[in-house]
Amino acid sequence: MAILEITTVPDPILRKKAHKVTDFGKEFQELVKNMIDTMREAPGVGLAAPQVSVPMRLIVVEYGDEENEETPPKLYVLANPEIISASEEKVDGIEGCLSVPGLVGEVERHAMISVKGLNRHGKPVKINAEGWLARIFQHEMDHLDGVIYTDRATKVWKPKPEDEAPLD
Ligand code: NI
Repeated sequence: MAILEITTVPDPILRKKAHKVTDFGKEFQELVKNMIDTMREAPGVGLAAPQVSVPMRLIVVEYGDEENEETPPKLYVLANPEIISASEEKVDGIEGCLSVPGLVGEVERHAMISVKGLNRHGKPVKINAEGWLARIFQHEMDHLDGVIYTDRATKVWKPKPEDEAPLD
């Protein structure tokens, strides 16, 4: 298990457009494992490769349904993710980011999205997400284009103890 260093603003790597994953070999597998470990250790619900200073289109997401605590969190590893459809309906929600310590913000996101990409073995996958999961995917995918949630936020503030926001 290796915990990677999570970079924070204003590191310029967080502002770069990441490149596509083309090699799913040993080094990539190692990166995936380390990103999962790093996300869990943080703890966070998602992590994008640029946050660990790797300019690659790779995200990991692990999120459990808070309505149903019996269901174990589901882990997603997605390379080269793309939104293929999104609901017209948008919803406001509170986000935080491991790369922007000490702040949360309110961001409008699509309520539902369909995402396609490649799993950790390079096989095509499609994911339909709604609610918080849809929000996490949109937040993580933004990181691959150098976008940080504070760019989209209608307001940003220092959280009080009662403001709980998932970190990614
Ligand atoms: Ni983030």
